[in-house]
Amino acid sequence: MNWFSAALGSSVGKKLMMALTGLAFIGFLAAHLAGNLTIYGGKAAFNGYAEKLQSLGPLLHLFRAGLITFALVHILTGLYLFLLNRKARPVGYRMHASAGGRTLSSRTMPYTGIVILAFVIFHLFHFTFVDKTSTTVFDMVAAAFNQPFYMLLYAILMIVVALHVRHGFWSAFQTLGVNHPKYMLTVTTVSFAAGVIVALGFGLLPLVIALWY
Ligand code: HEM
Repeated sequence: MNWFSAALGSSVGKKLMMALTGLAFIGFLAAHLAGNLTIYGGKAAFNGYAEKLQSLGPLLHLFRAGLITFALVHILTGLYLFLLNRKARPVGYRMHASAGGRTLSSRTMPYTGIVILAFVIFHLFHFTFVDKTSTTVFDMVAAAFNQPFYMLLYAILMIVVALHVRHGFWSAFQTLGVNHPKYMLTVTTVSFAAGVIVALGFGLLPLVIALWY
């Protein structure tokens, strides 16, 4: 077990934990997006999906416990690596050109991460920890997005999520060793596509719901 704690304690081990927990979140986002897209099927389809989720009972609790554990590992490890990086390079780069893999989404990772954490906490109080006895999940979401403030807030925040996903996905591939120049174009394209899917898939929902319902 000594080798295990030594591996996790190393910077490479920490990057590996970031990559694996990050990929798990991308898996969660894919499932959440697939569920949310049922809204295009109308009220009954979306409420049916929400009810199915609730009917999972103990499995849902287990899933939530997993998400919280992964979030803690991802955030604390990310913070540690960020501080370590800053200590090693206190002045920072003078060049912020996108050459060498530095892009808007790579440069802003810690900040988009903090915004996403704040968003998820707000989102849980907005949609999950609310009394739904006198409404349905569909009516709650439609009422929220019919307020221009929430519609715009969600649409803008989904761009922040997309930026984080784009570089996070790319970076996870590098950490897992898919970094041969031969695969670079594919990895960059797949990561970009993941960002676009998040931005359009989630980001258009508030607009469509506001216009449609
Ligand atoms: C337009 C975009 C989004 C919409 C309309 C949406 C909608 C919802 C709704 C309706 C619920 C509550 C489901 C229920 O209680 O039955 C929920 C839960 C949740 N959402 Fe979202 N969501 C969006 C984007 C996101 C994003 C981008 C993330 C993560 C970064 C996220 C993370 C979560 C989490 C963690 C939960 C709690 C899941 C659970 O019940 O355990 N959502 N969302």
